[in-house]
Amino acid sequence: MVEHRASAVHLGRGFWTATAALGVLAIISIVFWWLAPDSLFILPSVAAQPGADIDSLLRFMLASGSALFVFVAGYIIYFAIAFRARPTDAPDAIGVQVHDNHVLELWWTILPTAFVVLLSILSVKIWYNIQLAQPANGLVVESLGHQWYFTFRYPQIHGEVTDEMHLPQNQPVVLNVTSADVIHSFWVPAFRLKADMVPGLINTIRFTPTTPGRYPIVCTEFCGTRHGEMSALVPGDDGKANPGAQWLVVDTPENYQKWYRAQQIAHAKDSDALPQASSGTVDLSGGDAKLGQQLFATKCSACHAVGPYSQRIVGPGLKGVLHDSSHPNLVDGDPATPENVAKILQKGFTGDMGTMPNATANSLTDKDIANLVAYLASLK
Ligand code: CUA
Repeated sequence: MVEHRASAVHLGRGFWTATAALGVLAIISIVFWWLAPDSLFILPSVAAQPGADIDSLLRFMLASGSALFVFVAGYIIYFAIAFRARPTDAPDAIGVQVHDNHVLELWWTILPTAFVVLLSILSVKIWYNIQLAQPANGLVVESLGHQWYFTFRYPQIHGEVTDEMHLPQNQPVVLNVTSADVIHSFWVPAFRLKADMVPGLINTIRFTPTTPGRYPIVCTEFCGTRHGEMSALVPGDDGKANPGAQWLVVDTPENYQKWYRAQQIAHAKDSDALPQASSGTVDLSGGDAKLGQQLFATKCSACHAVGPYSQRIVGPGLKGVLHDSSHPNLVDGDPATPENVAKILQKGFTGDMGTMPNATANSLTDKDIANLVAYLASLK
């Protein structure tokens, strides 16, 4: 049986008119996304570098995505109308069958590939800018997630700042985040940057606040029953501000200095140990090197090799940390004694090589510290 197969048609005036109309619509959609106000993205105005780059990428994707959508949806509608079944068609008529059109196949391979490659280049460039190209001389600040609040630690401020986080305008910041209990996530929508707060792991984000103001901090990882309280975007039960809301305040340099000195004074008598961490000296007697070795494998080996000092992973190799005469001092400058190693394990350390979490963030008990020190002492 022979079907009533339509013979090949040439695309006529109608097609080119439709194409021109879709082209105009596509250009309008591109211009629309390029000029759209931030509020359309349900995001506050960007207040830190490189947040603007992230917004540009978002706008680029929305603009190119909607231009593509205009053509795909437009042609579907155009072809559905132009090539609809007509009353004069035979009941078993089928449309034009196109096979092995190499020119067509070449173009529908080249164009999407080129677009995806362009998108990758732009993304990697911005990612590189966020991760690596920020100034190295930044102000190093830490934030810890707790159930259910954030705390902040600053150089030369004892203890922890527990209410608001302050940062100076136009100064590069290196923010190290981790958690004291479960996984939280640190997000400041106005900065567009987000990092998971994972116990025992330090995640770093780098940025430069550009606009003074108060910006909500939001936990974006479900962390227990009161997770919602870790968001300054969520209202409290009475519809007013959430009582647990915490804000990041970007100050002018003068106001920041005032706040910083006031905090130094207010926290002058605080201990640098975290509230949950044991304070005072760890009792090292009865440390078990075997248990310490197991702990080392799970808690330390991601950053420290059991090798010479020069064998760095993140921190130095720790074989001989207590017996290496060419390195008589620890990274914090104190003499390499079991007590001082215990102190670093307890309080953590931040230096050129990075940040070592403290005992709370690493979930180490005093007994664990004693076992680890016994193990390190046994390495010669
Ligand atoms: Cu902390 Cu969710």
